[in-house]
Amino acid sequence: MDKVQKSKRYQRIITQIEELIQKTIDPLARMSTIAAILHHKFDYYFWTGFYRLVEGELTVCCYQGSVACLVLAKHTGVCWAAIDNKKTLVIPDVKKFSGHIACDSRSASEIVIPIWKGNIIVAVMDVDSKELNSFDEVDVEYLEKIVKLIF
Ligand code: SME
Repeated sequence: MDKVQKSKRYQRIITQIEELIQKTIDPLARMSTIAAILHHKFDYYFWTGFYRLVEGELTVCCYQGSVACLVLAKHTGVCWAAIDNKKTLVIPDVKKFSGHIACDSRSASEIVIPIWKGNIIVAVMDVDSKELNSFDEVDVEYLEKIVKLIF
């Protein structure tokens, strides 16, 4: 899929997400719906979900895909790095990321987007792919827009 096709697909998905999530303000219902929609729209989405900060622990929340680690060791791995650096991280090859937490050894590349509530990061969105180098600036642009719809 080229970048133009990918952008157009994300634009259609955003419209669908906006329509669906207006039915509730509950962030968990919104996260569940976002994970379910995205997971089935792109072939390279292998694990699609959210980790929330619960009493300082990065704890798994709504997701689609294989069973994930329930709690991520503090300040280790890609999800914590996105929080600690306060920015989206695109990892083309997870094996080259020191400290990467492999909940499923088939994951090859990954993107993690911090989720802000006001000026505090409260969660991250995490997407894994079985292929190397799956995520680019188009995924960053649209996933950053999508996570802003949660709160
Ligand atoms: N790989 C992540 C852990 C979560 S799983 O990918 C679902 C990390 O390194 O933080």
